[in-house]
Amino acid sequence: MPDSTEASAASAPAGETPASAPRIRTSGDSEVGAYLEIAEAREPGQIFTPAPNAPEAVVVLDYGSQYSMLIARRIREAGVYSELVPWDSKPEQLNHLRIKGFVLSGGPASVYEADAPTLPSYVIASQLPVLGICYGMQLLAHSLGGRVAPAAHREYGHAVITVSDTDNPLLRGMPTSMPVWMSHGDHVVELPQGFRSVAYSESSPVAVMADAAGHLGIQFHPEVVHTPQGDQLIQNFLFNVAGCSGDWTAANFIEESVKNIRDRVGDGKVICALSGGVDSAVAATLVHRAIGDQLTCIFVDNGMMRAQEPERVVSTFRGQMAMQLLHVDAVERFLGELVEVTNPETKRKRIGETFIRIFEAEATKLGKVDFICQGTTYPDVIESASTGTSAAVKIKTHHNVGGLPADMQFTLIEPLRYLFKDEVRRVGKELGLSDEMVYRQPFPGPGLAIRVIGEVTRDKLDVLRAADWIVMDEIKNASMYYDLWQSFAVLTDTKSVGVQGDFRTYGYCVALRCVTAEDAMTADWARLPYDLLARISTRIVNEVPDVNRVVYDITSKPPGTIEWE
Ligand code: XMP
Repeated sequence: MPDSTEASAASAPAGETPASAPRIRTSGDSEVGAYLEIAEAREPGQIFTPAPNAPEAVVVLDYGSQYSMLIARRIREAGVYSELVPWDSKPEQLNHLRIKGFVLSGGPASVYEADAPTLPSYVIASQLPVLGICYGMQLLAHSLGGRVAPAAHREYGHAVITVSDTDNPLLRGMPTSMPVWMSHGDHVVELPQGFRSVAYSESSPVAVMADAAGHLGIQFHPEVVHTPQGDQLIQNFLFNVAGCSGDWTAANFIEESVKNIRDRVGDGKVICALSGGVDSAVAATLVHRAIGDQLTCIFVDNGMMRAQEPERVVSTFRGQMAMQLLHVDAVERFLGELVEVTNPETKRKRIGETFIRIFEAEATKLGKVDFICQGTTYPDVIESASTGTSAAVKIKTHHNVGGLPADMQFTLIEPLRYLFKDEVRRVGKELGLSDEMVYRQPFPGPGLAIRVIGEVTRDKLDVLRAADWIVMDEIKNASMYYDLWQSFAVLTDTKSVGVQGDFRTYGYCVALRCVTAEDAMTADWARLPYDLLARISTRIVNEVPDVNRVVYDITSKPPGTIEWE
């Protein structure tokens, strides 16, 4: 999502009802004949009936590769709107888009397996450009009459391809020899009619195939960082082959969303639960931009936030952004719910339920409310729309603020429903939110309660807040805050003996948890410089009275989790 020209907020989720597309075998098959007939009889626009104002888009059909979601992200980074949909989506499920081309993702299947996913007939019939990646390429070749077979040497990891046709629009301007990331067992051994090999590798005579109608196949993964020219290749497909205009930008997303929200809400009333996290902050700001004081935000202070956070939420949204903000001080109530609770799951449950009860009560006080705004993002949507083949389904979603009651009689507004996290951040920046708000590390809904091991008390929370502040301060001073997925302190329930000055002490042990991660599914402990660790430790034991020991958590995830509870 670069920063200029026009883009649209897509309005409807694609692909929810799986429908089996016909399986296509060889060029002699009647099905391929049928393709050609359809293609001859129809203009591209006749397959799809795009809704008025539908955004220009490239559709990624998901065949289950762990990189499927990454392909859609890369396309959007190039400035073209893209959606990832299950491979068996029906054409009428795509009418909210003005499709400029298709990408067929990789996947674990082999085209010869009995129940292997197939190519929906509309893809070729639409006459739109198609880029098949790995399994997608094999499927394209197989469906159009080529032959795919197991490779004598499986190619996993780095390979080098040599471009034999530098004029091909997909490869234009690229080096004649370049490193790529391969991951395949099958490969194309006979090209379909009309296709040529335009690049090869040591083990694949057809590393890239192309015909004159914009059907392209690549045996490697352009979407991963291990293919350094991958972005260029994706851009070539989008702009040289599919003729996209590159209109997907933060500014235009905001403009379009504001229009849509105004149309939907009319003079209705909207509420939004603000947690201090990025998603709810950006969603609320966008809705506020659209309808101003018809939006009321509810911020429930549960007493489990980090130092100065409640104040920051209030000053940002009520002060800077001039929003109607209800600040509910529920600290006593939450602390009361946690007395003698040591079980992590019980803590989470109590906090979630208490939040819902308070939120409901506050919402009722506002009189008639028509809509509720939530910061749902695209990974959540993909997960619920997936056929289950996608690796994307395994990506953990962050729970919304406590989870809202199912029986609330509000209509949902989810303005970030089609955005990836980095796009949410760009929209947040464009809306004027600070870097601090937009690039903050994730923070769990139950807050510090799951970082105080054992019973949560006001005193322990204060100790943890003081230690956590030092961690954040030092990590920021070392310019590492934005490189780490998370960096925080945990107050363990261990006390140990120490000596400070001439006195023997018996104090808390604080654990330091700093991790790097791409998403929260896996994480590695961060290799912080010793000097930094030393500074953090010294400051904590000197500045936080009840702590006399600091340890560093060197467990990756798995087997550990990021949070301790
Ligand atoms: P774990 O500890 O499971 O955490 O490795 C993965 C990511 O999720 C965050 N997390 C939560 N976020 N509500 C949330 O909103 C929760 O209950 C919750 N539990 C864990 C955690 O901070 C990490 O980023």
